[in-house]
Amino acid sequence: MLGLKLPTDPRWVKLVESNISEILTDHAWCEQKAATNAISIVVHNSENEELVTDMLALAKEELEHFEMVHNIIKERGFILGRERKDSYVNELAKFMVKGRGRKFSLVDRLLFSAMIEARSCERFKVLADNVDDEELAKFYHELMISEAGHYTMFLKHAKNVAPEIDVDKRWAEWLDFEAKVILNYGKEETVHG
Ligand SMILES: [Fe+2]
Ligand SMILES: [Fe+2]
Repeated sequence: MLGLKLPTDPRWVKLVESNISEILTDHAWCEQKAATNAISIVVHNSENEELVTDMLALAKEELEHFEMVHNIIKERGFILGRERKDSYVNELAKFMVKGRGRKFSLVDRLLFSAMIEARSCERFKVLADNVDDEELAKFYHELMISEAGHYTMFLKHAKNVAPEIDVDKRWAEWLDFEAKVILNYGKEETVHG
């Protein structure tokens, strides 16, 4: 799915179902991080009008997702827990290359973002297809569609940064790296856990 090399084992869903309040808290913070990432891209690339336009729209959408998750948390009588660290995302971040110039840094930041959207989309699909809770299944189906759109948008912008950068080649490297990282996950009741 979306070029990902390793599918998530559906048994991960059983873990998630055993601790719904944890996945909701972790998910809420994933949406916050996605909004923050979009704003950070704006801060560092203010001259790129098309990118700024799309990132501002994205930041709003991710904040809406945050709000949607928070509403579910409230409806179910849970309380949003403290921000969760996302070690999967932190591991991916280390693969971003530094020192190859501003344009390459931007391409890598966009591919890093596309990678997270792709895996999140896949995880939401696994949840939508396997979770017994009907409200959550519907919710995750909707989010899956939206994250697939974000993945496509990030890749489109990566390809627009500079004609001299071979984005397809670099994306293939990202997919290989992600496959190695995700091997160690699927054991926790978090979005990327
Ligand atoms: Fe989102
Ligand atoms: Fe997203």
